[in-house]
Amino acid sequence: MNILEIRDLDSGYGKALILQDLSIDVKEGGFTAIIGPNGAGKTTLLRTIFSLCDLYKGTISFRGKDITRIKAENLSDIGLNYVPQEESIFPSLTVFENLRMGSVKEKSREKISSRLERVYNRFPVLEKRHGQSAGTLSGGERQMLAVGCALMTDPDLLLLDEPTAGLAPTLVEGLFQDIAKLNTEGRSLLLVEQNAKMALQYAHEAYILEGGRIKQHDDAANLLKSEEIIKHYLSV
Ligand SMILES: Nc1ncnc2c1ncn2[C@@H]1O[C@H](COP(=O)(O)OP(=O)(O)OP(=O)(O)O)[C@@H](O)[C@H]1O
Ligand SMILES: [Mg+2]
Repeated sequence: MNILEIRDLDSGYGKALILQDLSIDVKEGGFTAIIGPNGAGKTTLLRTIFSLCDLYKGTISFRGKDITRIKAENLSDIGLNYVPQEESIFPSLTVFENLRMGSVKEKSREKISSRLERVYNRFPVLEKRHGQSAGTLSGGERQMLAVGCALMTDPDLLLLDEPTAGLAPTLVEGLFQDIAKLNTEGRSLLLVEQNAKMALQYAHEAYILEGGRIKQHDDAANLLKSEEIIKHYLSV
């Protein structure tokens, strides 16, 4: 069973057609990665799912329900959330206030406090820094906070746009491990990444996106062994 199904999608910005003929599945409980170079269309794909750019053709369904025309602000109500590539936290608010903003639509105090506890358990440094303004966090801590904010809606499917970009290599692996734990706890993940090696090590399956089109799709373990993939993406 798939939690997300994208079929024959064309999308872009105004007259600029970026994604062409894309079909992608994320299995219920799965961890799917989209890998590709700069400008491949990775961010555009996540923005299309979140109705943040123009869809010309195709369908997007979440647990069998057509979400093609659902507005971004309503997607979290049905179980989707998104950690964008650009900075999404409020630098002048504290860590705690940012997390509270993440669940601003939730009325139940019990749900909010149990979600907060889960975020603090997954990222203990955020609890340590709960009263610190987010603008003074390190790059790694900011990324954890961005993921934490998205977790405050308790999404069944989380979309992640290059969460480890710009982090020191020593921090990248740790954040990948935390993300993989979100998946083993039961959340489905769709991750877009330039860091093919890491993505293929942690994801279950992956799509290669180039020039707005899917070039290949396979189990991540098979792609890790493929000579062509090693030559193009893993030899750096
Ligand atoms: N607002 C926009 N208007 C027109 N074209 C855009 C817009 N945003 C992005 N593009 C173009 O869409 C293409 C895909 O961009 P996108 O940001 O999806 O790539 P990406 O795979 O996420 O790259 P990166 O790894 O650098 O983040 C690029 O050619 C880009 O110039
Ligand atoms: Mg991008």
